Amino acid sequence: MKRIEDFTIIENKAVDQGSFILVAQCASRLENIQPGQFVNMQVPDTQHTFLRRPISICTFNKEKNTIKFYIRKVGNGTEKLSALKVGEKVNMVYPLGNGFDTDSKSPLLIGGGCGIAPLVLLAQTFAQKGVRATILLGAKSGNLLSLKEDFAGIADVYISTDDGSMGEKGLVVNHSLLQKVNTFDKIYTCGPTVMMKAVAKLARENNIPCMVSLENTMACGVGACLCCVTKTHEGHKCVCTEGPVFNALELDEFIDE
Ligand SMILES: Cc1cc2nc3c(=O)[nH]c(=O)nc-3n(C[C@H](O)[C@H](O)[C@H](O)COP(=O)(O)OP(=O)(O)OC[C@H]3O[C@@H](n4cnc5c(N)ncnc54)[C@H](O)[C@@H]3O)c2cc1C
Ligand code: FES
Repeated sequence: MKRIEDFTIIENKAVDQGSFILVAQCASRLENIQPGQFVNMQVPDTQHTFLRRPISICTFNKEKNTIKFYIRKVGNGTEKLSALKVGEKVNMVYPLGNGFDTDSKSPLLIGGGCGIAPLVLLAQTFAQKGVRATILLGAKSGNLLSLKEDFAGIADVYISTDDGSMGEKGLVVNHSLLQKVNTFDKIYTCGPTVMMKAVAKLARENNIPCMVSLENTMACGVGACLCCVTKTHEGHKCVCTEGPVFNALELDEFIDE
């Protein structure tokens, strides 16, 4: 069930270059959250940033009623969220979206940039089911991969960086791990669209199902404004309610190239 609720900031820590980890606590009991679901977060100073900002749930803790977020500062809204102080309140609508299925025995997770955030909860969920995921992380540089520690002990981690400062040098889709891509029965990806398209192409060529999590610009987050729609083989779908996770084979822009 969707809720609209004030959360209290209990941690706000700058990490990487221009990113921050936000941990927020609600007064009521947190219900189960599916990996890949997100919140629509109200930005302080709504006069200048009226629309809420969609942010993935990185992890959550049902004992403490907390949700952790990993956010990259790209504009006015995320800049203001980065300035939130411990004790301040932020209003959220959550949990939104369909989330990832966990119907895989040998999953490969591929994440880039802030798209790594929802893959943490996905890897944790697999681990709770006794499935050890493999995760391939991509970034411009190793110092932009602060979330990699979150996968320690629950997944096998591989890394690609553009500058070669960590893991293999180059793009994730060129990582040597992918020479044995056929050992995986499903691929889950979230990150820059260009990366997800390359991942989906590789999956398609190898007949592996590929789930992609889209980060289309959103407004209402609940299927009312239609500003987030994406074209699928079954017509237009709202990314906020019918996604953000789609099978890549459904999406016109991932196939028609
Ligand atoms: C389902 C979902 C989950 C998301 N999860 C996260 C997350 O966990 N961490 C995180 O840092 N970000 C996440 N995003 C992206 C985040 O919502 C945007 O970066 C944020 O709304 C930008 O707000 P702003 O006011 O800072 O920037 P704006 O001033 O609105 O925009 C600044 C620049 O960023 C671009 N931009 C805005 N929104 C997006 C977007 N959705 N995707 C790509 N570029 C965008 C604009 O075109 C512009 O160039 C997610 C988006 C979606 C749809
Ligand atoms: S954001 Fe309004 S319909 Fe999806």
